[in-house]
Amino acid sequence: MIKIAPSILSADFARLGEEIAAVEAAGADLIHVDVMDGHFVPNLTLGPPVVAALRKVARQPLDVHVMAAPIDDWVVAFAKAGAAIITVHAEASLHLHRTLHLVRESGCRVGVAVNPATSLTVLDEVLPMVDMVLIMSVNPGFGGQSFIEASLDKIRRARAMIDASGHAIDLQVDGGIKADNIAAAAEAGADVFVAGSAVFGEKDYAAIIGRLRAEGETGQARRGGR
Ligand code: DX5
Ligand code: ZN
Repeated sequence: MIKIAPSILSADFARLGEEIAAVEAAGADLIHVDVMDGHFVPNLTLGPPVVAALRKVARQPLDVHVMAAPIDDWVVAFAKAGAAIITVHAEASLHLHRTLHLVRESGCRVGVAVNPATSLTVLDEVLPMVDMVLIMSVNPGFGGQSFIEASLDKIRRARAMIDASGHAIDLQVDGGIKADNIAAAAEAGADVFVAGSAVFGEKDYAAIIGRLRAEGETGQARRGGR
């Protein structure tokens, strides 16, 4: 089974509540919330008060992707605001073990993200601590960028690490996911797909989410068939 997580970064920020209701009605499994601090990444988005407001209207879990450094104080704030999943960047924490522990203690599901230039070796010591690994398939900071093709091999290697670990860990991919490349990412082993511009750039959210899901499932079936 795959999950589609529309990123509200590409939604109409003046109508966020309506946009979330619309993608939920269209079949979204998670609501991906991109937090950017203007320091770890060269863009600013939103903070805990907005997440708290979204929590009141969202029915699906809020998948909060925090692109901020330092990170630890934000973990506590976003957990209080109602995040279901908090994903932190391996690059943003000097003491990743401590940060991931903090997410776990906060009661949220634990995600760890790696940028395109970051080796998967950072996961070696922390894999048993997480519920989700996020492979960034663009450099974080902006929606609408092109998928970095080398991410497919990285997803394959991350999937092998997860399978070898014996833990039930989701593998999320974020950046440049479209209807024409989601099958390849699924075949490589991803099972949670963030899509910002691909979803919110279309008028018919149900049609695009349905198409992303169908293509993703096709890719996953190809993987299973190997
Ligand atoms: C990028 C963000 C992504 C972004 C994806 O830094 O983490 O979640 O919104 O947008 P698209 O799908 O347009 O690449
Ligand atoms: Zn994201």
